[in-house]
Amino acid sequence: MKQKIVVFTGAGVSAESGIQTFRDGDGLWENHDIQEVATPEAWSKKPKLVLDFYNERRKQVLKATPNEAHKTLVLLEQFFDVQIITQNIDDLHERAGSTKVLHLHGEILKARSTFDDQLYDWKKPTLKLGDKCPKGYQLRPHVVWFGESVPNMIVAANCCEGANLLIVIGTSLNVYPAANIVNFVPEDCKKYLIDPKIQQSFIGNNIELIEKKAGEGVVELVNQLLSLKENV
Ligand code: OAD
Repeated sequence: MKQKIVVFTGAGVSAESGIQTFRDGDGLWENHDIQEVATPEAWSKKPKLVLDFYNERRKQVLKATPNEAHKTLVLLEQFFDVQIITQNIDDLHERAGSTKVLHLHGEILKARSTFDDQLYDWKKPTLKLGDKCPKGYQLRPHVVWFGESVPNMIVAANCCEGANLLIVIGTSLNVYPAANIVNFVPEDCKKYLIDPKIQQSFIGNNIELIEKKAGEGVVELVNQLLSLKENV
């Protein structure tokens, strides 16, 4: 049976594709107030502002292409059972070719009915007030806002069961419950963290730190893991 790898990614894995992170110096939350654009309250008070914010996110994603990190992770599937769990709302893991991708915070290329949570593909750059589901209700971006639950956490916890390796890439591990993923894997699971700015909260036993950008760090680690398999 193949060994199981859980790859947990954050905004940093897509940074080299030109998608802004949230908490770096030039991050999105430097110039936008979370309360104004990413909460259910914001949606009730100023829906246009919320839609504009996510329209910008969608435009960035539509322009972006997968980088070396996304592409190299796919190679692991040759020898390992690989489950990607991402906090990102982009589809760059899927476009690179990863086959098992779970999104914790939604997907910007989908819209959701405010009536019954039904999802619709939404690959046009903008979602506007007046864009409605077939039943006549306003559509919203399919993203998790602050204060909302993260339904895929339960699925994610199940995915982590029995993992042999956990690879964490490009996340500040600041946002819960998503950051709990690192605690869901078995105690003896070997862990790797790839990030140019190592998160002090994730330093401990059995963790190998790769203080590099995702492109370089992922290539290095994947080559190492594949050469072990190829030499068996
Ligand atoms: P953050 O912006 O909080 O953290 C980005 C991480 O990526 C930091 O640790 C950076 O050091 C690292 N980083 C920057 N450039 C990198 C590169 N080229 N290669 C690798 N790493 C790099 O983003 P997340 O941790 O993903 O949620 O944020 C978590 C959640 O907070 C997001 O999903 C979003 C946000 O609010 C919601 O909107 C619900």
